[in-house]
Amino acid sequence: MKSIVILISGRGSNMEAILGSALPLEIRAVISNRPDAKGLDIAKKLGVHTIAMDHTAHASREAFDEALAKQIDALKPDYIVLAGFMRILSEPFIRRFAKRIVNIHPSLLPAFPGLHTHKAAIDAGVKIHGATVHFVTPKLDYGPIISQAAVRVTPDDTEDSLAARVLAAEHQLYPQVLRWLAEGRVDLKPSGVVQITGLNVRSERRAQLLLVPME
Ligand code: GRF
Repeated sequence: MKSIVILISGRGSNMEAILGSALPLEIRAVISNRPDAKGLDIAKKLGVHTIAMDHTAHASREAFDEALAKQIDALKPDYIVLAGFMRILSEPFIRRFAKRIVNIHPSLLPAFPGLHTHKAAIDAGVKIHGATVHFVTPKLDYGPIISQAAVRVTPDDTEDSLAARVLAAEHQLYPQVLRWLAEGRVDLKPSGVVQITGLNVRSERRAQLLLVPME
């Protein structure tokens, strides 16, 4: 069975969705760079090994990343799952775990990288918004896209209402992608394009394109 570590910084709702999805994956640990992250308490209650690594206790970004890499090496996971991990990882860290780090971003990349994606979507007047799970590469919010979930933007949406709709979609999307990874079905081509292999069930084919049905 493949294994993962989950990296968080805060409330951990994606982590909770992953832990609650009975995935065929061994969860080696949940690591937070913030010792007071709510997600750590949730993981503990669910019986998952938790590790707090306070980034402020390290002299530099590189020093923290090196300590984090050593911790992850000791856990030997197949994949590193970023779930609301609010620190930019340095290039040596990303290269060390190349093709093994996945992230969820609250927009349909390549639109709206960075922070405040829901406000950016409303300001841009897009009618469809969503979330993306992608492999992490040194360029922020840019790596190969594994899958996306789309939601409608309504005329009366606020940043909060849109954020809530996207988050609900994230909670479906991330476990689905991790299931594909667990099953060894995520094929990252040399071109940088990802294909999910063996999609022969109708619903799953639809899920790969659009997890959240539009009315
Ligand atoms: C999510 O919106 C995720 O896309 C982004 O950070 C947020 C984390 O939320 N990267 P949670 O901690 O999983 O609740």
